[in-house]
Amino acid sequence: MRIEVKNLTKKYGKVVALDNVSLVIEHGMYGLLGPNGAGKTTLMRIMATTLQPTEGTVLYDDYDVTRHQYEIRKIIGYLPQDFRAFEGVRVRDFLEYVAILKQLPPRSIKNAIADVLDMTNLSDRAKTKIHELSGGMKQRLGIAQAFLGDPEVIIVDEPTAGLDPEERTRFRNLLAEISMGKTVILSTHIVSDIEDSCYRLSVLDHGKILYSGGLQGLIDVSAGKVWEKTLPQAEYERFKARYHVLTTKVTETGVTVRFISDEQLPGATAVDPSLEYGYMCKISQTGKGARHNAHKPAVSM
Ligand SMILES: Nc1ncnc2c1ncn2[C@@H]1O[C@H](COP(=O)(O)OP(=O)(O)O)[C@@H](O)[C@H]1O
Ligand SMILES: [Mg+2]
Repeated sequence: MRIEVKNLTKKYGKVVALDNVSLVIEHGMYGLLGPNGAGKTTLMRIMATTLQPTEGTVLYDDYDVTRHQYEIRKIIGYLPQDFRAFEGVRVRDFLEYVAILKQLPPRSIKNAIADVLDMTNLSDRAKTKIHELSGGMKQRLGIAQAFLGDPEVIIVDEPTAGLDPEERTRFRNLLAEISMGKTVILSTHIVSDIEDSCYRLSVLDHGKILYSGGLQGLIDVSAGKVWEKTLPQAEYERFKARYHVLTTKVTETGVTVRFISDEQLPGATAVDPSLEYGYMCKISQTGKGARHNAHKPAVSM
């Protein structure tokens, strides 16, 4: 299955949520990384046929999201960002409801539900009411419903939001395991969600694609661009106004900052390139993205 996002633009009134986005996704797990407001959910909703583009389209081989919603819905599974299952409903009943919506053949529903419960390790929870599940279990149920009917393509929008670090790791492993042989598109604002599981990714900010390619390519973006330097506290404010500071640590001798700069400053040492820093370098180029709340430098005092 070849998925092609082609010159996609989405406007909500005057807000341009996606601005001429193009990318190709072929197989395996594909990451879509971007800060809040980047346009990730808009892109995923268009891909899942729940929102119409303003211009451009998405193709699944020859199926087009503007014309073949019905056919496309049969080959994709979708976990929306705001997935809130019906709280008072039991796990099995909820899955049955989704299976009917997906128009699975009635005779296959029982086995299909057993398969996805087993896959997500929820078999012993079939009769539990959804509000009694933990956060991690609810997200697993979200995955279970997306996988019902064994679709070729799975679209998951920020599935790790709201999970604690341990649940997040477990969830990532589960997703990587069950996505073998499928195409999975995973959106997130958390770099480490993508680091271990995705082979290729795109960086999206302000509705524009800033990078598409392999992980190493994005790591390389930060080579020779991120530096560390210790300053007297009194100089910190002025420094911060001038350079894009990524992290700040207050020590006995002053303030140790990591920052982006095209050239080395006196007293600065190079920081090893990483995916996180490559991402920071990319989104800092769009200016506003760099000042976005989600990317305020972490200050530890
Ligand atoms: N229904 C809507 N009406 C108006 N603006 C919207 C709507 N949905 C999203 N937006 C705006 O579009 C932009 C992209 O939002 P979204 O796709 O939700 O980004 P992300 O998922 O990356 O946080 C944001 O500026 C957001 O405020
Ligand atoms: Mg979103």
